[in-house]
Amino acid sequence: MGTSIEPAPPLIYDKTNMKKPSTIYRCSACGHEEPKWLGRCPECGQWNTMVEAKTIGRFEKDKTAFPVPLESVDPALGARVSSGILELDRVLGGGFMRGSAVLLGGEPGIGKSTLLLQACSKLGAKGKALYISGEESAAQIRLRAERVGALSKQIEVFCGNDMHACLSVMDSAHPLLTVVDSIQTVHSEEAGAVPGTPNQIKFCTQEFVEWAKSHDSIVILVAHVTKDGMIAGPKAAEHLVDAVISFEQAENTLRVLRTSKNRFGSSDELGFFLMGESGLSELQDPSGIFMVRREGQLPSGIAVAIVYEGSRILLAEVQALTIPSKSGIMRVYSDRIDPLRVSRIAAVLEKQTRLDFSSQEIYVNVAGGLRLTEPAVDLPLACALYSARSGQALPEGCALAGELSLAGEIRPVRSMDRRTKAAHQLGFVRIIGPKAMPAGEQLVDVRVTSAGAGKANAGKANAGKAGSSDAERAAKAGAAKAEAATHSAQTLPWLGASSLRESLRILWGQGT
Ligand code: TYD
Ligand code: MG
Repeated sequence: MGTSIEPAPPLIYDKTNMKKPSTIYRCSACGHEEPKWLGRCPECGQWNTMVEAKTIGRFEKDKTAFPVPLESVDPALGARVSSGILELDRVLGGGFMRGSAVLLGGEPGIGKSTLLLQACSKLGAKGKALYISGEESAAQIRLRAERVGALSKQIEVFCGNDMHACLSVMDSAHPLLTVVDSIQTVHSEEAGAVPGTPNQIKFCTQEFVEWAKSHDSIVILVAHVTKDGMIAGPKAAEHLVDAVISFEQAENTLRVLRTSKNRFGSSDELGFFLMGESGLSELQDPSGIFMVRREGQLPSGIAVAIVYEGSRILLAEVQALTIPSKSGIMRVYSDRIDPLRVSRIAAVLEKQTRLDFSSQEIYVNVAGGLRLTEPAVDLPLACALYSARSGQALPEGCALAGELSLAGEIRPVRSMDRRTKAAHQLGFVRIIGPKAMPAGEQLVDVRVTSAGAGKANAGKANAGKAGSSDAERAAKAGAAKAEAATHSAQTLPWLGASSLRESLRILWGQGT
């Protein structure tokens, strides 16, 4: 006679019976929430930062909220406001959008304040600009404005770092454009006592974003970046704004403005500026600035890439160096091209050519310091690595573009015809790229030459390379120029290759 065990009644998860806590405890440093008070925040580890906060209860029905037919919305409300600086407009997707907030990141001293002061002065008759600074005095801002020719009646300044003071100044000034320089210096009592904490940045960003939206105005928040290029503070601040742009230094005076998020436009756009004695000036045709002019033959390890960065074509010199690794393990040092991409291309090369890369230290650089992110850099990178490892230089006048698959095939890249024309304009006569076009693209003014014709060119190049006298070199350079001149706009050739091995054969002949 065993005792039967009664099955336990099923647990019923009844949402209606669940009581939501009306108070929670929120960390004033990082924003972490806990149902009970704790002496130390389990998220950020700070002591005595948990403060009591109310949770939001059930929403009352809001009778004033209603949708409108999309067709009845006035399209003029979405018109953009030009910043008066073309390169800035370009990265913003055609100018500022009213009712939006933009985060501008960059290392200290790169030129963020200069750029924004210049943008404020270019606003002209479109509206008033308010420059809020928590870092500089009004006199310092005036001196800078005089220096860069940005002294304008349209600009008002406010030096302070209390968020509520900033908002009330904005309320009374009614600016079209407000610059907050910087978001890390602004603080609010509500978000805890310590300025610059992630919670403060998140809270103040949210307030400025809401102000911009409710006043149909534009707010630019300047943000300092940490050493690894991240905007200091929570990633959440980036999610709160409509666009995130960052200022990077390419070389001494060259500044690159890069979009990393844009709700109203492309997010991979670049803007180019030069920092000079009187502020920043725009550089509208940067296609050739990353080229290195050389007399005579190229050293080994160098290949020219034709890349599309944003909406512009750039020719950039990819440099590679390989030396035997002391530990016998491959190490990649590359800060301009993603090191993972370099490792992948080295692996593809090792598989396809049997050259050993896995015991090498690999150094990769891009002349002029530009960061390259486009997949079309794969093929020039592979050729630079091959050239570095084999000690054979690329023939002169050669530029490349193409994405590589792990199997060593060259995948199509967009607008190969435009790339060919841009490279040709800069004097390149052998443009090596994928054989196929991307689906849906039409060829304009350019023809694809088969690899057979390429081999003939390679033969010429190799014959030239064998010669070492200056006369031979000059003759070769002359021949290259003549070759460039004979290609009319209609017949610019790109040498189409379907695999990495085929492109190596075009460059260095059958032995590769
Ligand atoms: P700034 O705009 O203050 O940088 P950020 O706001 O990003 O910290 O720029 C400061 C640097 O720029 C400083 O090193 C001096 C240089 N600069 C010039 O070279 N020319 C100029 O006309 C100005 C205003 C600054
Ligand atoms: Mg500054």
